[in-house]
Amino acid sequence: MQALLSLHDVTKRYGALTVTDAMSLDVTSGTTLGILGPNGAGKTTLFNLISGDVRPDSGRILLEGRDITSTSPHRRCRLGVGRSYQIPHPFAGMTVFENLLVAATFGAGKSENDAYAPCLEILRQTGLWPRANQRAGSLTLLDRKRLELARALATEPVLLLLDEVAGGLTQHEALELVALVRAIKTRGMTIIWIEHVVHALLAVADRLMVLNFGARLAEGEPSAIMADPDVRRVYLGLGS
Ligand SMILES: Nc1ncnc2c1ncn2[C@@H]1O[C@H](COP(=O)(O)OP(=O)(O)O)[C@@H](O)[C@H]1O
Ligand SMILES: [Mg+2]
Repeated sequence: MQALLSLHDVTKRYGALTVTDAMSLDVTSGTTLGILGPNGAGKTTLFNLISGDVRPDSGRILLEGRDITSTSPHRRCRLGVGRSYQIPHPFAGMTVFENLLVAATFGAGKSENDAYAPCLEILRQTGLWPRANQRAGSLTLLDRKRLELARALATEPVLLLLDEVAGGLTQHEALELVALVRAIKTRGMTIIWIEHVVHALLAVADRLMVLNFGARLAEGEPSAIMADPDVRRVYLGLGS
């Protein structure tokens, strides 16, 4: 079966620093890949490479078999790469609903009329319905995280990239977000989720990949990865 997303030998350097080191990766349609790794491991850079915010120095990126290595971020969004950002950046002065309309019109290329119904549906799905007319800048952290997810959904992705959406939340809030991501997954979405909150990843991911210095330290079935002595030493700071 063809992977929804494939990276072939993708390398990105900043000066002397190799941040993504000949990374190859396949993500199967309908699955969730969780990514763990210490700060500075190159996790967000990997998303920047997939979304097109950053161009690789070498290597190829394919979405549904199509080479998107040189495709603009805007065009990749239209092709179905949807992402959240580690630091949410909604239009603070606009309402929650207006933020979704912008994502649906500019991101998915819908007319405002056509954007209306799907954006209402996303408000319901993400629990933001009661906040629809509230300015994004006045939301609580949990609702800002929900909005970040909702904006990504409004671009109608086939591949959803989530960058630390559970970070900074209380345990209870993180569980709410986990339930939301699970519900999105259940509807068939392909997801890559970068997260430090390990229990959140374990609740959703089919596979885990651990990044360290821009390269794969381990990848596989979540319970096997969590039991891996190298992973425990490098990532969890535990002796083996
Ligand atoms: N635009 C940039 N210019 C220079 N260095 C960068 C840039 N973006 C990221 N880096 C460096 O690349 C490394 C990986 O960063 P990042 O991908 O954000 O890691 P992570 O998300 O795993 O914490 C870090 O050392 C970071 O300082
Ligand atoms: Mg990061």
